Amino acid sequence: MIRTNTRWLALAGALVAAGALASSLKIELPTEAASLKPGSGAEIAKGQCLTCHSAEYITTQPRDKPLAFWKAEVEKMKKAYGAPIPDDQVSAIADYLARSYGTGGS
Ligand code: HEC
Repeated sequence: MIRTNTRWLALAGALVAAGALASSLKIELPTEAASLKPGSGAEIAKGQCLTCHSAEYITTQPRDKPLAFWKAEVEKMKKAYGAPIPDDQVSAIADYLARSYGTGGS
């Protein structure tokens, strides 16, 4: 009984120590890489597209892609990966992405 209690105390101590260590760590991401360009629709895209992966998945795509590509990409995130994007936001997001990272929006 006493042994068990001591073990729990040691574990609690280790957790407190780990917590203190974690809170002293500060990670700064370069703003360019961490987010999406400002613009109309940017906030919707940030809300819907950065929940599963980083913005780099989007920002590193070749720049020669048209609106249709971006629309298909948003649909793919919905259908293939289960992104919970409301249907009425697909166009706004695709338009923003095509304007910001492709050949232009509608
Ligand atoms: C539900 C999770 C989820 C959400 C939300 C999501 N994605 Fe993805 N995305 C993925 C996964 C999974 C991959 C594939 C990762 C891999 O292959 O390593 C991916 C890959 C990508 C790629 C790389 C090319 C490709 O087709 O694989 C792009 C571009 C992309 N996502 C754009 C978007 C955009 C734009 C949005 C918002 C409309 C979005 N993602 C939202 C899960 C998501």
